[in-house]
Amino acid sequence: MTRARKVIGAGLAIAVVMTAGSSLALAQAKKKKSKCKDGETTEIASYDLSKGENLDFQIAKPLNGKPGDAKTGLKWMVHRRLGNCIACHEVSKILAKAKPSDLNSLKKYGFHGKIAPTLDGVASRYTEGELRLIVVNPKKAFPDVNTIMPSFHSASDFHAVIGDCKDHAILSADRVEDVVAYLKTLKE
Ligand code: HEC
Repeated sequence: MTRARKVIGAGLAIAVVMTAGSSLALAQAKKKKSKCKDGETTEIASYDLSKGENLDFQIAKPLNGKPGDAKTGLKWMVHRRLGNCIACHEVSKILAKAKPSDLNSLKKYGFHGKIAPTLDGVASRYTEGELRLIVVNPKKAFPDVNTIMPSFHSASDFHAVIGDCKDHAILSADRVEDVVAYLKTLKE
């Protein structure tokens, strides 16, 4: 190979490396952009508060105008990036799905926190509209306790949200309704 060809060859190799490098950077940028890809949304549904039976307030009507799906609701409740309700709450019906012999079922349905009340029988303690308010905005549902439960359908009720997830609600209106549908199955 002549010296000139060698130089061109090396130049090409550098160009290839640079292209690969910049597409890697692009992929990383894309990955970074999608931190909220699980569906956290900036669309916050508007809703009316009315008087509750057990709490001062409730949200009587579904946020999206239609009832949710309980089976899908269970998915959000155990989803470690979304609802993750079991990080704080114990639910016997969910815990029963965690089989010690099956690591995947353990990871998905096991390891419940105990710093919040159990959700067993919660549908007997609250109306559907109250359950909806508790998920959407627990601060409004329990105004006296300065609760640590996150507001799952609010874009402004947080203190230290990481970059891209600013102004995002944790659960979309549809997902809130799915969770409410699941909570309604937890009767005494
Ligand atoms: C960071 C912890 C935490 C997470 C996560 C959490 N909660 Fe809570 N939740 C609480 C606490 C604490 C209370 C009790 C209110 C209080 O005293 O602060 C509560 C209360 C409730 C209640 C009322 C229970 C009762 O018997 O009075 C319901 C229903 C509820 N949460 C549902 C949920 C659902 C559904 C999710 C997931 C989408 C969830 N919570 C996620 C901490 C949490």
